Amino acid sequence: MSTLALSTAKEVFDLLRDDLRAIERELGRDAVSDVAAITEIADYLREGGGKRIRPSLLLLAAKAQGYEGQGMVKLGAVVEMVHTATLVHDDIIDAADTRRGRPSANTTWGNAKCVLAGDWLYMQAFHIALEERNFRILDLLISLTQQMVEGELLQMETLGRAICETEYFDLIYRKTACLFQVSMRLGSILAGATDEIEDQLGEYGRSLGMAFQIVDDVLDLTASEDMLGKPVASDLREGKATLSVIHSLENGTEADRGAIEKVLLDQSFDRVDHAEILEILNRNGSVEYAMAAAFRCAEAARQGLAALPDNEFKRALLWVPDFVVARDK
Ligand code: IPE
Ligand code: IPE
Ligand code: MG
Ligand code: MG
Repeated sequence: MSTLALSTAKEVFDLLRDDLRAIERELGRDAVSDVAAITEIADYLREGGGKRIRPSLLLLAAKAQGYEGQGMVKLGAVVEMVHTATLVHDDIIDAADTRRGRPSANTTWGNAKCVLAGDWLYMQAFHIALEERNFRILDLLISLTQQMVEGELLQMETLGRAICETEYFDLIYRKTACLFQVSMRLGSILAGATDEIEDQLGEYGRSLGMAFQIVDDVLDLTASEDMLGKPVASDLREGKATLSVIHSLENGTEADRGAIEKVLLDQSFDRVDHAEILEILNRNGSVEYAMAAAFRCAEAARQGLAALPDNEFKRALLWVPDFVVARDK
């Protein structure tokens, strides 16, 4: 590709700074309810920060195609709110006690209130999206939410057992990549893109989202809680087999397979500890295998940008896949 990618997070952030600030203000306005618990939970999550990668993608998709209206701020807030709602629910489901470096909302307010706050956030997101008066946007957001809920449910049915790569890729599409895809589509719709360009940018989002979740799953196995701001080794403790684990299950020795299956079945490291699992994964080249898959998805993402005119927003989009595969949190 002839374009030079922007090379640092700061350059990309500078490009989006004003719009991201506007999105923060929008999120602050949108999270207000007469019921204190909802406002408290929503404020708490927003103040916890987060990478804001989904609204950034939506902004970049719209701006790369010349869009300058206010819709991208509204819809940027919408995708972040949908994301926040899924995190609230996900932490209840996973019984996670930290998120964004702080106690998770369920730890502080309890599951019952958080289920309801998550529901409220979903509905508030749709409410804001409705302001665009565009059925296609609502259609995308509703299908997306169903995909994400189906993904979490399908995942529950896999807990405690080995799954194959096809099953894994389907799950991570629903759980994560679908929202990346929709973020890119929404930015394109605002910019009045043709169906073809919208599809291509959607493919960028899908591939990028796949890379993102593969890396998330690797970090869950290899990173520290301090770095991630959320629990580590939690996937195995929840009985979830992710890509590197699947690779060792399929390519390791009989003993390797037995050890991993014990952890998945027990949903604990009581019989086999985390270090032993890491040794198995490293010896079989399974972490590298998963990272290679993430790199392939990142490269595939870049292909989806071919039809965009060359500008700084396109250059930022070319950089994001590198950021996603190199990230450490
Ligand atoms: C966490 O998403 C959930 C996954 C899809 C792995 P992020 O890693 O984007 O979370 P924040 O918003 O930066 O906290
Ligand atoms: C991420 O699944 C999918 C979501 C929609 C939240 P994970 O369970 O791996 O996410 P984290 O690791 O808790 O952020
Ligand atoms: Mg989780
Ligand atoms: Mg995870």
